[in-house]
Amino acid sequence: MAETNRQLILRNRPKGLLAPGDLELVEAAMPAIQDGQALARVKYLSIDPTMRVWMAHDTYMPAVRPGEVMRAAGLAELAESRHKDFKKGDKVVGLTGMQDYCVIDPAEKRGSFRKVPGIPLLSDTAFLGVLGITGITAYFGMMEIAKPQKGETLVVSAAAGATGSIAGQIGKIHGCRVVGIAGGGEKCKWLTEELGFDAAIDYKQPDWKQQLAAATPKGVDIDYENVGGEIMHEVLGRMNLHGRVVLCGLISGYTKDDPALESFAMVLVKRLRVQGFIVMDYLGRYMEAATHLGKWKMFGKLKDRETIVAGLEKAPEAINMLFTGANIGKMIVSV
Ligand SMILES: NC(=O)c1ccc[n+]([C@@H]2O[C@H](COP(=O)([O-])OP(=O)(O)OC[C@H]3O[C@@H](n4cnc5c(N)ncnc54)[C@H](OP(=O)(O)O)[C@@H]3O)[C@@H](O)[C@H]2O)c1
Repeated sequence: MAETNRQLILRNRPKGLLAPGDLELVEAAMPAIQDGQALARVKYLSIDPTMRVWMAHDTYMPAVRPGEVMRAAGLAELAESRHKDFKKGDKVVGLTGMQDYCVIDPAEKRGSFRKVPGIPLLSDTAFLGVLGITGITAYFGMMEIAKPQKGETLVVSAAAGATGSIAGQIGKIHGCRVVGIAGGGEKCKWLTEELGFDAAIDYKQPDWKQQLAAATPKGVDIDYENVGGEIMHEVLGRMNLHGRVVLCGLISGYTKDDPALESFAMVLVKRLRVQGFIVMDYLGRYMEAATHLGKWKMFGKLKDRETIVAGLEKAPEAINMLFTGANIGKMIVSV
């Protein structure tokens, strides 16, 4: 086992994208464990847009304070255990933090970890993506809030990302016409040619608004919203009466520290039901989501993709990649 524990420490609250030095790589002493705890080696980190929000201010979780290890979900393998329910070699997912080793203390609620079952044909990283937080976010956003009906039109923004790609495919499984919005031709091609989306709009093209109108001739019944700002404004403008908006994320505002909250006049006029949600409210129903997602994946109805960057020291760069759109599917760092 290593003698020191590399950690990424938050030094400054970023302005815009992360700048060098906002997260500093340090070598700390290896943590010691007490009875009832376990020590785990972090193998993969989930890279999530919400990290940029955690760096900025309190929201549904308190902000990370300068001087603290940067918060992150990850997949870790137990190196040592003094807890009766965990043994060396077990794999777990939970809030590991951006570091090589973390202490697992099941008594601490925020640090609660879930064991990962060894399932043939499933990679460990699937438990951070399609069967992890982003997969179950898409599952509950679609099944509990969107409630897709056959023949309806669903528009998904950030559609080639981890959450959007799964949300759109769940719409297809339920018989919707699915239109994705994503940045660039490669992403759009993946959506239509591999994932079965009916249309994909590259919002970096000057005529994307006309393309969106052409792709949604019967209007939009469900907006699975990951982006906010101008994209959300345009989609809301095409919504049918009594449509549903799954307000999952507003990534276009995260680096501006001014989350885009305009466009709500259209919510009012069109009598739309808009429901914000945080996936943490559904964690108790993880098995329900994982059973459906796993079955759809096994039968080839759901495809997932990962962008994996190697090295803990590359994690700050990986966070920025979410905001420049350099990822397709789930963004992960292999530690
Ligand atoms: N409510 C919840 O509980 C919950 C849980 C998980 C995630 N989320 C939210 O879901 C959304 C997606 O998260 P994810 O983890 O799946 O990330 P992701 O979609 O895999 O990655 C982020 C993507 O957002 C797009 N993007 C970034 N800045 C943009 C901008 N200014 N305009 C348009 N598109 C932009 C980029 O794709 P392009 O190349 O297409 O621009 C990028 O690849 C985020 O808003 C996140 O906060 C919410």
